[in-house]
Amino acid sequence: MKLIFELSKPGRGNQVLTPYYSPLASREPEIPEADIPAAFQRKQAPRLPEVSENDLSRHYNLLARRSFGVCDGFYPLGSCTMKYNPKINEVIANLFKFTDIHPLQPKHTTPGCQTVYALAEKYLCGITGMDAMTFQPAAGAHGEFTGILLIKAYHASRGDAGRKTIIVPDSAHGTNPATAAMCGYNVRSIASTPDGMVDLDALRAAVGPDTAGLMLTNPNTIGKIDKNILEITQIIHDAGGLCYYDGANLNAVMGVARPGDMGFDVCHLNLHKTFSTPHGGGGPGSGAVGCKDILKPFLPASALGETASPQSIGQVKNFYGNFLVVLRAVAYLMTLGNSGVREAAQTAVLNANYMKQKMEQAGYVCAYPGICMHEFVLDLAKLKKETGVSALDVAKSMLDHGIHPPTMYFPLIVHEALMFEPTETESREVIDEVCEVMAGILKTAYENPDACHTAPHDTVIGRPDETKAARNPVVRYQFDA
Ligand SMILES: Cc1ncc(COP(=O)(O)O)c(C=O)c1O
Repeated sequence: MKLIFELSKPGRGNQVLTPYYSPLASREPEIPEADIPAAFQRKQAPRLPEVSENDLSRHYNLLARRSFGVCDGFYPLGSCTMKYNPKINEVIANLFKFTDIHPLQPKHTTPGCQTVYALAEKYLCGITGMDAMTFQPAAGAHGEFTGILLIKAYHASRGDAGRKTIIVPDSAHGTNPATAAMCGYNVRSIASTPDGMVDLDALRAAVGPDTAGLMLTNPNTIGKIDKNILEITQIIHDAGGLCYYDGANLNAVMGVARPGDMGFDVCHLNLHKTFSTPHGGGGPGSGAVGCKDILKPFLPASALGETASPQSIGQVKNFYGNFLVVLRAVAYLMTLGNSGVREAAQTAVLNANYMKQKMEQAGYVCAYPGICMHEFVLDLAKLKKETGVSALDVAKSMLDHGIHPPTMYFPLIVHEALMFEPTETESREVIDEVCEVMAGILKTAYENPDACHTAPHDTVIGRPDETKAARNPVVRYQFDA
């Protein structure tokens, strides 16, 4: 397939028509052209591809046909919640009354957008049990960063300068320790028990006057909810620390259990996975952060300074964050309603347990026994030892059956890990079919391991050199002259 630069012919044009539906489109711009200082001006015109609209449209259609998304087939990428998102949310997020606004417009001209934020805060505080929420953070990890800065500001406001450590269980998402370190904290890791819970004795031994807080991913990265959650938050509070809830996995508990009721002081949500914006591909996200009243004075200031308290940590993103992601979340919540939110979580957990059970019956080994939440982890160490077929080989074999592989080699505490998250939007028939395929792959692994080592056989690209791609990425077109 040719790159768009290779399709380019000098002088070939592409006429873009003014959108007929936008009342703003025909107006003269109100903002005068800026004088860009000569030092910042290009010396040469950029070499953009010159193609006709027809070529352009065919090029991207072809690219789309060669990629794989939730609308193409089963996509069980664990820890990512790749679920089908109702198209109505996209329709609403594309309404020009939402897309054609500017964050610096006078406030009295944007009551609709303000209502969207007010509704999002009301619904999501209700779901999390928090008192206030900011929508500035642009992703989950950014939300964590914001939340830990709130904790830091809280301790600083009390003159409590000795609290320099954040405790992070080893079943946490990798962004948790990274966030704590970025905020200037020492990270103390706590081991999990064999059934995937926080080791309470280790936690009690770890807390002290230097404890600033705890970051808990819940359900954690092995798909388990911690049964000692109230004890965990109590231990941290007794030591004078605060509790942070990584709520990126809220798909499993929304409408059923609330971080605020579990004793958490601050949490983030990934609106771009749990609440309907398609996740993955690096698109815009929203790591909304909710907190209890004690942390409210430290919340990020709004871009316009209207809600800034003197104790605010300041702005963490320009303007209001990714508004259209928040809008999709509101549309999603309004269509589901209270009972629908709960039902989505219950179905996600039911589907994961149904699939886990079927995979165990097929002969796969799960890393952790018992009931899981919305995702589960297979441990393929035994298969690798007996046949040489690795988790990567199994994942590659799935591609030949039109199934996107699950998350591989994560969490790190399981060595040959495959992490499945079927989500609530898959039917029983689809899950049954996938489990049949997985049983077939297991059979092939024992009977003809080479077929797995060389998979995929039917895709456009087989096995790219992943190390080379990571170490020597070529992401820019090189012109001949
Ligand atoms: C449990 C958990 N925490 C945090 C994150 C980070 O979110 P993001 O990728 O939006 O930064 C993720 C990613 O999906 C996650 O699964």
